[in-house]
Amino acid sequence: MKERIKILLTEEEVDARIKQIGEQISKDYQDREVHLVCVLKGGSFFMCELAKRITVPVSLDFMSVSSYGSDTKSSGVVKIVKDLDDSIKDKDVIVVEDIVDSGRTLSYLMEMLEGRDPATLRLCTLLDKPDRRVVDVNVDYTGFQIPDEFVVGYGLDYDQRYRNLPYIGVVEFD
Ligand code: IMP
Ligand code: MG
Repeated sequence: MKERIKILLTEEEVDARIKQIGEQISKDYQDREVHLVCVLKGGSFFMCELAKRITVPVSLDFMSVSSYGSDTKSSGVVKIVKDLDDSIKDKDVIVVEDIVDSGRTLSYLMEMLEGRDPATLRLCTLLDKPDRRVVDVNVDYTGFQIPDEFVVGYGLDYDQRYRNLPYIGVVEFD
């Protein structure tokens, strides 16, 4: 089965929105430092672009959790595959994700990180599919709300492919 990719958000639209979020975060965290926590692998493209747009001091860390196999449906199982390198205690932390879908991954992750006593903890996601929510998650910064379709690009994959697309596309099957 061969799939086609239909553009949903162009490179220009995504870049412009990331610039706006970066400006908003720079304002909200004026005179403070932000510690960005990237959820691998999907959040990595977004985090790099976002970090470049933030004008207050930024530090970065990465973690990897698994909730999806090679399918397009959530398994509901969340496992920490790679934990953070550094402590987040007393830091102003922003978790950077590619997409909030059912909310299972993020609700689990945010609760776990809250338990590590950050000064503040916020969530920033490039995409949000609100129609798909199963578990409630508080999202502080959202790039785009999108319809319930499976998307790729800008870090998001279909069976590990298409992460490198510079735009967001919907996967269509023939
Ligand atoms: P959740 O736990 O259902 O919110 O799933 C979040 C994770 O599922 C994301 O970090 C993605 O890795 C993956 N995911 C959800 N929707 C999509 C999609 O449309 N395209 C690619 N990956 C997705
Ligand atoms: Mg992900």
